[in-house]
Amino acid sequence: MDAIDNLINRSSSGHLDSPIPNREELDLIYQAALRAPDHKGLKPSRFIEVSGDGLDKLSNIFVNFVKENNPDADDAVIEKFRKMPYRAPLIVILVTNYKENMGVPEIEQMMSTACSAQSILLALNALHYSGMWRTGKLSFNESISNLLGLQKNETVIGYLYVGTNVGPKKQKDTLNNSDYVEIWS
Ligand SMILES: Cc1cc2nc3c(=O)[nH]c(=O)nc-3n(C[C@H](O)[C@H](O)[C@H](O)COP(=O)(O)O)c2cc1C
Repeated sequence: MDAIDNLINRSSSGHLDSPIPNREELDLIYQAALRAPDHKGLKPSRFIEVSGDGLDKLSNIFVNFVKENNPDADDAVIEKFRKMPYRAPLIVILVTNYKENMGVPEIEQMMSTACSAQSILLALNALHYSGMWRTGKLSFNESISNLLGLQKNETVIGYLYVGTNVGPKKQKDTLNNSDYVEIWS
């Protein structure tokens, strides 16, 4: 696929099913992710790949999360969290492993992981798969980090739901550059 075409026409999908990328394709996808801009080369990003039985494990963690953080959650809410990981056959959890450094605040390290996320979405699109970046309540908090067994310096910045788009192909409006770009010359 042409690189510019990939950048301009990538779209997310909330309707994801098998097939998922094979091991060789996933290795390429992670190589793309690990080429994200990285101030001072701190390597602040890592990824947890969840599929198969791993989705059941994640589902239990999401249920524990909602019980821990919302004691008033009724059965319907708990069921919603239980089902969340099954919205795709593969989930990549985006983790920032913050390295203390005078010149590179945590936000910059999270931004580097965010760049990795976009690279993963683009690599998926180039390989004719699709993805959807989700955050919701399950990101940016200590409770989910603990339940996932992350280190103290680690933060979940989101979840990439991954698979093959089985829904309608989204038609995106082309935005006018002049509405968003200010030119000084
Ligand atoms: C940081 C971030 C968090 C997001 N979280 C959610 C989310 O929790 N739920 C959701 O439906 N979409 C979420 N989105 C939006 C989708 O990932 C997607 O970008 C959006 O549906 C637009 O689709 P497009 O990527 O094809 O333009 C998030 C996007 C970003 C960048």
